This record gives sequence, C-alpha cells and structure tokens, in this order.
Amino acid sequence: MDFLPDLTRTVLTRSPRPFLFLRGGERRLAYEDEENLGLYVHIPFCRKICAFCPYCKTLYQREEAEAYVRDLLREIELTASGKPKKRATSLYFGGGSPALLAERVGEIVGKLREHFEITGGIGIELHPDDVKEETLRLLKDAGVTRLSIGVQSFGKKFQRILGRPPFDPRAMKKALDAVKFETVSMDFIFALPGQTAHDLLRDVRIAEWVGANHVALYPLIDFSFTGNGIPAMPNGRKRRLLRETAARLASRGFRRTTIWTFAKGDAAYSSMTRESFLGFGVSAVSLLRKSFRINTFSLAAYRERIKRGALPTALTLRFTERQRMVYWLFWTAYGMEVREKDFERFFGVPLRKAYGKELLFAKAMGYVTEKDGVWRMTDRGAFAYHLYEKHYTYAYIDKMWNLLRREAYPEKIVL
Ligand SMILES: C[S@@+](CC[C@H](N)C(=O)[O-])C[C@H]1O[C@@H](n2cnc3c(N)ncnc32)[C@H](O)[C@@H]1O
Ligand code: SF4
Repeated sequence: MDFLPDLTRTVLTRSPRPFLFLRGGERRLAYEDEENLGLYVHIPFCRKICAFCPYCKTLYQREEAEAYVRDLLREIELTASGKPKKRATSLYFGGGSPALLAERVGEIVGKLREHFEITGGIGIELHPDDVKEETLRLLKDAGVTRLSIGVQSFGKKFQRILGRPPFDPRAMKKALDAVKFETVSMDFIFALPGQTAHDLLRDVRIAEWVGANHVALYPLIDFSFTGNGIPAMPNGRKRRLLRETAARLASRGFRRTTIWTFAKGDAAYSSMTRESFLGFGVSAVSLLRKSFRINTFSLAAYRERIKRGALPTALTLRFTERQRMVYWLFWTAYGMEVREKDFERFFGVPLRKAYGKELLFAKAMGYVTEKDGVWRMTDRGAFAYHLYEKHYTYAYIDKMWNLLRREAYPEKIVL
C-alpha cells in the first residue's frame, strides 16, 4: 500500500509531478495578502523524552531555553517588522512542552501582538506535570484561552506501555477548578495492546470529571525513527474500537469536530485546520497561498541563522495550483466538513468543477453526504481518512522529519 499516497497525489493533482521541497526560500515571508492567517510557535523543550514521540524536541535546560526565547522574539521581528499590522485568527503554542516556559509566554504573545491583531483564542499544549495552579494563572494572564493536556492515558497499565510516569487526576482537577479556560482539551493515544472501548471511555469519563470539554484520540503512530517497540493493533480491531468509542462519545453529548477530536459545546482546539499560518521556532511550518516552508530542526543552526538576521527556513515547496488544492482539501476534510463556497473563495473555481468525479465517488462509497453545498464526512469516511492518514504520515511526514532530524539544511526532498 506504499503506492497509495503517490497514486492519490497523481490522480488529484492530475500530474505525475511530485511535491518538490528545495533548500531555503525567499528572504521574506509574504503573508500580507493571506485571508485567514493563524500563528504557531514551537517550543522544543521537555523534562523527559518519550520514546514514542516524533516531534522536534530536546531535554529542557534553563539557559538554552532562555536563549531560545530571545531568538524566537527576534524571528518574529525578522518576519513581521516593517509590515502593516495583520489580523490573525488564532495563536497556538506547541512542542515539546511549551508550558515549561509559562513565565515567558506573555512576552512572546506581547511581541506577536505588536505585529498581529489576534482575534481568536490562544492555545497551548501542557504536559500533565504542568497542570498546576500557578502555571495556569501565568498562562491565563498571558491571554491563553485554550489548553491541550497530553494525558495519553489515565490507566496505569497504558501509562506503563507508553513509558509515561503516573500522575494524580485529583491534583489536576483541583488546578483546573481554580483557573478556568474556554477549552480544556485532553490528548489520548489509542490502539495500544489490549486496549478496549471500555478503557477509552473510562479515560474520557475521567477527563470530563477532571474538567475537559474536548478530547483528542490519536492512534499510536510508529515513526521509523522513534522505535517505541509497541506492537500495532490490527486494522479491523482498530476500526471496531474507534467506531464503538465514537458512538459512545456521541451518546455522551460529544460532537466529532475533526477526524481525531470530539468536543462539547463550543470547545475547539486545532492548529492544523487553517488555510494559512505562520510558524515560528525550530521545525515550525509556514503555510501560505502559494508555498509551504519548514524551519530547520536543529537548535544550533536556528540560533546561528537568527544571529545573522536571516530566516531559519530549511525547505520550501512552491505549490502548483492543483497541489495547493489537494493540500487544502486534505486539511479541510480533516475538520470533517468541506464547504463549496470556501473552496471557491480560495481558488476562484467551483469545487464541483475541480473535483466533481471524486465527490461522486466519495458519496457512492458512503464516505460523505452533501447538503446545501456542504460535504460532511460520515464515520465510515472518517475511518477511511484515518487509514489513509497512516500512509500519508509514513510516506510524507516520517520521510521529511527523518531527514530534517539528520540534516539542518538538506538540499531537497521529493515527496
Ligand atoms: C507535541 S505532543 C505535546 C504534549 C505534551 N508535551 C505531553 O507530552 O503531554 C502532542 C500530542 O501528540 C500525541 N503523540 C505524540 N506522539 C505520538 C505518536 N507516536 N502517535 C500518536 N500520537 C502521538 C500525544 O497525544 C501528544 O499529547
Ligand atoms: S510526548 Fe510530550 S513530553 Fe513526551 S517527548 Fe513528546 S512532546 Fe515531550
């Protein structure tokens, strides 16, 4: 099935031309004309490294982290100074464990606010060890409105499998009761050996009791460079597990908001479903109308570039129009819904004209339903997407991150 991402790319872009990422990029990031711009800041520090985690991160050291914040502030200046103040719909801090730098988050938000009017919420990822009243107060004072807590599992057995130390949900609840946020999301990793829908539902029930109004259920992905040694769950069992869990979550009043997230009320937490975004920090991506840029993964190389007053872009892809359409559709569909009017606004072409046959195929397969120009993914479609995402992750993300972990500025990558 390794051919699947190449085949779908060829069919949907109507061309055998691959995604070609080349070293470097323009001196400046021309984001002025972007309509729905999000912001992302990557903080790559953790107290302890988890074997299963593929993200760009390193062990926390105070001095290195302080120097990193200075470089981040400089990168924001290099990107935005001299440009008119721009509206940004959201700001997310990801990592690593960005709440380790809770004392500095206000300063970073302040620097961004000099150049961007942030109209939506501000989100940040927390490790369970960060869920303490004083940390939450610092974050709230900095303007944070959304939390995403990497619980992974409340069950001791699964914490052991993942190599995560146990923690006390009562202490977490106490802190979250004392300092309130619009969205409290909790991440869980599923498809672990022996895991049942009952185990996952138990996790969600505890999450709700602790104060979550949003949950993310991520299937464990075994990246080629992480070597976690955890056996994969067969697809059939995974499908049943997800189907049963999704049905039980719906009966508890959770709406499916993306392929992997479920929410109560208006709770929302998603940094990937933006049409365009600017990313700051190591490994951060900037997605614009015509290009995709990814920063170097190397802290030393990042520091050196910033010191020279240059952007730390490692690779840039200049999209063809069809490639951009595929990228747009992939990430919009991740949000469960594709609106014809949004596609037409972005590309100036009706969705049915660009992808009429594919939409009919998806409808015939029972993957989507359509009403008044809104194409909504069914649970069946969500699972097909979920299976496809696995191939996409191995063929594209794993390959790119693997290279960028080894080389600060590779010459090119062809995907
Ligand atoms: C960048 S991590 C940050 C979370 C925070 N540092 C923590 O560990 O609590 C974001 C989320 O990615 C998910 N994740 C990490 N590695 C994964 C993997 N190999 N497969 C699936 N999900 C993974 C976890 O659920 C994690 O909470
Ligand atoms: S899962 Fe979280 S704490 Fe663990 S290494 Fe990844 S970012 Fe760090």
